[in-house]
Amino acid sequence: MSGLTGKVAVVTGGDAGIGRAISLRLARDGADVVVVSNVAAQAQAVAGEVQALGRRGVAHTVDVTDVAAVAALAEAVEGEFGRADILVTSAGLMGARAFLTDTPVEEWRRTIEVNLNAGFYCIKAFLPGMLARDSGRIITISSISGKLPAAMNSDYAASKHGVIGLTKALALELGILGKNGITANALCPGTTDTPMMDQITDHMPPKGRMTRDEFIKKAVASKSIQRRLLDPDEIADMAGFPASDQARGGTGQAVNVCGGAVLF
Ligand SMILES: NC(=O)c1ccc[n+]([C@@H]2O[C@H](COP(=O)([O-])OP(=O)(O)OC[C@H]3O[C@@H](n4cnc5c(N)ncnc54)[C@H](O)[C@@H]3O)[C@@H](O)[C@H]2O)c1
Repeated sequence: MSGLTGKVAVVTGGDAGIGRAISLRLARDGADVVVVSNVAAQAQAVAGEVQALGRRGVAHTVDVTDVAAVAALAEAVEGEFGRADILVTSAGLMGARAFLTDTPVEEWRRTIEVNLNAGFYCIKAFLPGMLARDSGRIITISSISGKLPAAMNSDYAASKHGVIGLTKALALELGILGKNGITANALCPGTTDTPMMDQITDHMPPKGRMTRDEFIKKAVASKSIQRRLLDPDEIADMAGFPASDQARGGTGQAVNVCGGAVLF
């Protein structure tokens, strides 16, 4: 029997990149997985991969910035599975790659809405069930940009600092309520090879004859001690532990998985 057998996990942005890797990791550990995305075909494909691992995999097409749709998702999961034990908020976008005054207001709002506010909407929707059972694992996906901002990406840095603040405040409030069965932790990945990398190269095309991969290696990955991009599975492996029952003493933490790009 695997560690998460019988658990139900909900993974937003579970259709691609880090969220997909986490969905599959949790399924390999025994969990049934609800894959949430605003891209139906991708969510269904990952739900199929979960099923191929012998678990229940269900896709829900939801825009996580739609408060009513997120509330309906929580109700639907409660109806289909009886509960949600693990919530992972991985849906996100890269935001503007521009100097602050060149960042369009609408783009700033969109980044904060998807990367930060939607996490709040999801936690608000799924927490009541966890509170009633005094049992749950909330894992938010921040970034090393939540600790050390990258220049020309202030909307993203602000959103990811916010995710850490939200997660720590939630952990404090759970403690005040004595709900020690629920933990809330943030993961802070370093640069990871996912479709999000294309959002960087779209905004900052490689100069001269540099290929996309050479550019990413030189401009982005070189900033870590290990001087490499991370694989989504490495982030997923780090998510496996806080999702488990064994991690009951770890809450309010913001854990780096970044090849040493950030040392605090
Ligand atoms: N890739 C990296 O280098 C990196 C580093 C640090 C943190 N992160 C964070 O990890 C998380 C996942 O990133 P990724 O690299 O896997 O990105 P990705 O683009 O590969 O996947 C994110 C997924 O989120 C989904 N999504 C976006 N907006 C949505 C919305 N409104 N409603 C529902 N789903 C939505 C998209 O369908 C997309 O597939 C993000 O929060 C990102 O900020 C990524």
